[in-house]
This record gives sequence, C-alpha cells and structure tokens, in this order.
Amino acid sequence: MKTGPFRPFETTWEDWVLGGGLLFAFEDPSLPLEVEIGPGDDDFLLEQAEEYPDRNWLGIEYSRKRVRRTVRRIERRLGTPGNLRLVWRPAADVVGRFLTPGKVRRYHVYFPDPWPKKHHHRYRLLSPAFLTDVRDSLCEGGEVRFCTDHLEYGQETLQAFAEAGGWENGLPAPGYEILEPGDRLTVFETRWREEGRTIHRLLFRRST
Ligand SMILES: C[S@@+](CC[C@H](N)C(=O)[O-])C[C@H]1O[C@@H](n2cnc3c(N)ncnc32)[C@H](O)[C@@H]1O
Repeated sequence: MKTGPFRPFETTWEDWVLGGGLLFAFEDPSLPLEVEIGPGDDDFLLEQAEEYPDRNWLGIEYSRKRVRRTVRRIERRLGTPGNLRLVWRPAADVVGRFLTPGKVRRYHVYFPDPWPKKHHHRYRLLSPAFLTDVRDSLCEGGEVRFCTDHLEYGQETLQAFAEAGGWENGLPAPGYEILEPGDRLTVFETRWREEGRTIHRLLFRRST
C-alpha cells in the first residue's frame, strides 16, 4: 500500500528491485543519501530534508504507528517532498540488501533502544554483523553519528565497531564525548536530559 509519494507501509522489495533499487524511490536518485535509523516521533529527518534539499533523506523505522504519525507530520509540513522517504522495516532488512555497495553518505542513529538486560542484548541494533553491512553501504568518507544516554551501551557499541573492523573512530580517547545540549534536541534527548542523564556521542568513519 502506498500513500502519496511516500512508501511507508509497503512491502516493496519487489517494487524496489523492479524499479531499479531503493534509491529510485527518490525524485532525484543521484543526490547524496543520508539515513536515519529509528526516527521514532522526532522531526530531525523532516527538518533536515527541508534544510538540505540537495540531499536525499531516508528514515528506516520498524514501528508502524510511528511511521504513520511521521507521514502525517511530513504531509502537513512539507507536502510531498521528493527528497524524503520512510521505510517501515527493521534496519537490518534494508541496509545490506538495498544500500550496498557505497550508497550512503551518512547515518544518524539517535538514542536507539539500549536493551540493558543481558538476555536482551541480541536485540541491539549495532551488532558487529550489522555494522559490517553499514560500513559496506557507506561511500568513501561516509560516517555514522550515534548518541545514547546509556554509557554501557555506548561502550559496548565502541567494541562492536572495533570487532566489525574497517572503521576509524572520529573522536579522541576514550572514543566518545559528552554531548552538551545544543539548540535542537530529539524527543528522547529531551526526555533523558529532563531526567538528568548524560548524553554520549560517537562518530565513526568508514576507513579507506
Ligand atoms: C528510543 S527511540 C528514539 C527515537 C528518536 N531517534 C529520538 O531520539 O527521539 C528508538 C526508535 O528506533 C526504532 N527502532 C529500534 N530498532 C530499530 C530497527 N532495528 N530498525 C528500525 N527502527 C528501529 C524504534 O521503533 C524507536 O522508534
């Protein structure tokens, strides 16, 4: 099912394949692509698509109701932008299959669920296997921007990057930094700052 130019509720692997790939969902597939994994109910993606019309913006979100809400906000605010698309899918289904090799300029991963209980760790997004797909999907100089309120998860994510290999840490030791509140906070950043939590930022680049 499609709504307008967005493809939020689709099972469109066939569409993508027959249509020449996921990038052809965009009006101009040749623009540099930035991807947010797990936009949730936050408007970062909308704002970026509006501010940077010379780039394509893809949101990958596995909560159907959040995708629907985001589509409504996009339609209200931007109408039918040619440079913004949402995919209702787990990120692991999309990245390796549709964004490799070297299709993505930058990933934004803000406050992914930390799954703090040991027996839930397998649900975490940034496993070494997934990071290998992410690396292969990045073009030269491509990078991942990641924020979390959960220090242990941040540290384990550092290890996952090291284990995956093929990454350069963009930050000096200890490999992450404390993020001071900026002008714009995501929905979850606002929530965690109100609780007094410290926000950690990671930055990794594909090594050449
Ligand atoms: C804690 S929320 C953060 C939302 C937003 N980035 C923010 O900072 O306010 C995490 C979001 O990631 C989505 N998510 C978690 N794992 C995902 C996956 N494997 N693929 C796609 N979306 C995922 C969840 O459904 C949720 O909307």
